[in-house]
Amino acid sequence: MTKSILITGGAGFIGSHIVRYFVEKYPDAHIINLDKLTYAGNLENLRDVENCPNYTFIKNDIVEEQTMFRIFEQYQFDYVIHLAAESHVDRSISNPNSFVITNIVGTINLLNAARNIWKDNMEEKRFYHVSTDEVYGSLGTTGYFTEETKYDPRSPYSASKAGSDHLVKAYFHTFNMPVVLSNCSNNYGSYQFPEKLIPLFINNIRQNKPLPVYGKGENIRDWLWVGDHARAIETILLHGKVGETYNIGGNNEWKNIDLIRLLCKIMDKKLHRPDGESEKLITFVKDRAGHDLRYAIDSSKLQNELRWKPSLQFEEGLEKTVDWYLHNQEWLDRIVSGDYLKYYEEQYKNR
Ligand code: NAD
Ligand code: DAU
Repeated sequence: MTKSILITGGAGFIGSHIVRYFVEKYPDAHIINLDKLTYAGNLENLRDVENCPNYTFIKNDIVEEQTMFRIFEQYQFDYVIHLAAESHVDRSISNPNSFVITNIVGTINLLNAARNIWKDNMEEKRFYHVSTDEVYGSLGTTGYFTEETKYDPRSPYSASKAGSDHLVKAYFHTFNMPVVLSNCSNNYGSYQFPEKLIPLFINNIRQNKPLPVYGKGENIRDWLWVGDHARAIETILLHGKVGETYNIGGNNEWKNIDLIRLLCKIMDKKLHRPDGESEKLITFVKDRAGHDLRYAIDSSKLQNELRWKPSLQFEEGLEKTVDWYLHNQEWLDRIVSGDYLKYYEEQYKNR
């Protein structure tokens, strides 16, 4: 493949996995990672590929419309894989506006910039919008989200992602923009910012800090290894039907409290602590406002039409994930201490 591929948000958790996957698998493609480097963006996530000849990093904010137009004109991207977003539900409760600005305004800027350079030749192009299952709202104890499930977002985060999904679909219908979308369940794996459940709790357990379980811990999430998300994105980008949405999920539902107990057990083993030691850190706290009860994805469209399926069993994936964080405690320390931006500046000053 010899395409020029823009990946937005490539310094974040999922984005860094996508960038690495494409840089390594497609040496003849040019992978351009554009990221604002918010608190969640960390170029240290990409140390292993940053010197590859087919990789370029651009520090920019997708909200800056004119700069985005210039960048699109300069690089003439064939494909856009759009991941840049404010991604954390709790932050959207305390600061909703930044979610509207990045997730909605940022997305329309990218759509406009793509439309501007692709207007005479859209056929071979792709605008891939990476979205979330949270746009579908909250399930009861039964049922699954399908691609036909009505949108019913309940947090400012999911409402902003729903808004961006609608814009992407509107550009397909109104302007024939060659879009594909996916709505994925909760990802886990290496390089995830330790504000999200799994890396936060790994970090707290190693530091003997309380584990704040929201409500009674009865909410359910469908967990997918981030490497399987990367393969799904590749499959949909290259083989998905223009204008279509694909749900991506792990078929792997866990009640939070059960997942947390499993994590505690793995951490006891890895840290050579007596059985049950880490569980003592569990602290039930006030529930998240508007906390969605259950997400569960029906990914049969992706599995049947495009032949994707998850590869990693959750217990194995979680243990590998714990191993990664314990072998990369300096990465965690720098983030937790807020020193990673300073670290990045120092590293880059000497290049
Ligand atoms: P993340 O918070 O780890 O990373 C987001 C990245 O976007 C960061 O590198 C950040 O610097 C960058 N960014 C933020 N605002 C920007 C802006 N204005 N301009 C340019 N860059 C900006 O997020 P993540 O968990 O990797 O999620 C990536 C995408 O996948 C998001 O669109 C999210 O909605 C979606 N998603 C995430 C999950 C999940 O479980 N994490 C599941 C489904 C979908
Ligand atoms: O479903 C996909 C979504 O998954 C993505 O779109 C979001 O970007 C991503 O952040 C994630 O959202 P969640 O809110 O499900 O993830 P989080 O890790 O914040 O929380 C997972 C569950 O754990 C949720 O039910 C809330 C609970 N929780 C979370 C934290 C951070 C706790 O009980 N305590 C905590 O401290």
